[in-house]
Amino acid sequence: MDRARRALITGGAGFIGSNFTLYMRAKNPDARIVVLDKLTYAGNLENLAPIKRDANFSFIKGDINAFETVDSVMREDNIDTVVNFAAESHVDRSILGPRAFVETNVMGTFTLLEAARKNWLGGGASNDKRIFLHVSTDEVYGSLGETGYFTEETPYSPNSPYSASKAASDHLVRAYHHTYGLPVITTNCSNNYGPYQFPEKLIPLITINALTGKPLPVYGDGGNVRDWLHVEDHCAAIETALDRGKIGEVYNVGGRAERKNIDIVNLICGAVDAAVNSDKALRELYPFDGSRKKLITYVKDRPGHDRRYAIDCAKIEKELGWTPAVAFEDGVRATVDWYVKNRKWWERVMSGEYVKYYERQYGGRSARP
Ligand code: NAD
Ligand code: TYD
Repeated sequence: MDRARRALITGGAGFIGSNFTLYMRAKNPDARIVVLDKLTYAGNLENLAPIKRDANFSFIKGDINAFETVDSVMREDNIDTVVNFAAESHVDRSILGPRAFVETNVMGTFTLLEAARKNWLGGGASNDKRIFLHVSTDEVYGSLGETGYFTEETPYSPNSPYSASKAASDHLVRAYHHTYGLPVITTNCSNNYGPYQFPEKLIPLITINALTGKPLPVYGDGGNVRDWLHVEDHCAAIETALDRGKIGEVYNVGGRAERKNIDIVNLICGAVDAAVNSDKALRELYPFDGSRKKLITYVKDRPGHDRRYAIDCAKIEKELGWTPAVAFEDGVRATVDWYVKNRKWWERVMSGEYVKYYERQYGGRSARP
């Protein structure tokens, strides 16, 4: 990665954002990194603890809707790279309360674009390193039948308030390039999994419920299909797009790993059984008789549940040379091991304890040096 980037990473305390921040720091010790995050239920500053003393890193607790905050960071830190992860990200929550999705995903992205327009196109010195990289999802394309793939040319057809709000933000990003010449790239990625994922999403939720002997809720008939990508592979794809992507382009990012939900739940049960059975202390901590598959419980389907997502990632593979590296079954086993070893992390996250971490660390103030 370009060593001298000066990056604003929004949503950098969430799942993918924190993985990307740590990834970028490891790859690029000289880059200036500023994370701006509202620390909603999904944002956890503990994820960034490994770099909290790094002189070239700062954290700001703030909302991407706060123009003054975003504008002053962009100006004072001379930001040349924005990577926008900040979002409300869970489909089930968007069905229960869509407003926050419109406010953050649509209006928040709009505010970031306005701040970038002012700072980058406002008449000062030009800088061809500048990139506004918008991190989006394959869900904007809607649902597939048994066959076919989403390409960058697939028409948008979002079905949930979440995907509709992400689609709206993608359109704004596109329009700011087309109309104002803002240097943007959009990536549309498939379902991610890996460390630090909030346990409301399928893989961490099933892992923790399997460990703790709770029912494993499978929506509908369990036959819905997602295309899965390990978060490290997503980080590498974003790095690739920053380094070699063409301004104004869209890149689909996927794992070439389509799986039915029920097959994933079975895989996780096997991985949890194996991890626990191999260790006496774990057997005592998580006692269970037989296979955890017996915890599988079919529940009422999600309203409007998209049946199948599948990404064709040939463009980023051919044009930029990125390809997914982590095999799905290996990635899931490693992720299950991470959750087994990091019980304190998920206990704190699930109890809201991590909110206190921020208060302890910064007394409720912005952590800007
Ligand atoms: P996440 O919910 O784990 O994290 C979102 C982060 O954004 C949190 O730290 C939260 O505090 C922060 N945030 C929310 N509202 C904010 C606001 N108004 N201002 C500033 N910060 C705010 O989400 P994630 O899974 O890490 O997803 C990150 C991005 O990647 C999202 O844009 C999502 O749409 C996209 N994406 C996710 C997946 C996936 O499988 N998780 C797949 C493709 C794309
Ligand atoms: P999720 O992780 O919420 O991601 P998304 O809806 O963005 O794809 O869900 C992945 C799939 O798993 C989706 O088809 C819904 C299903 N699912 C369950 O069957 N049970 C659950 O408890 C959850 C959270 C999801």
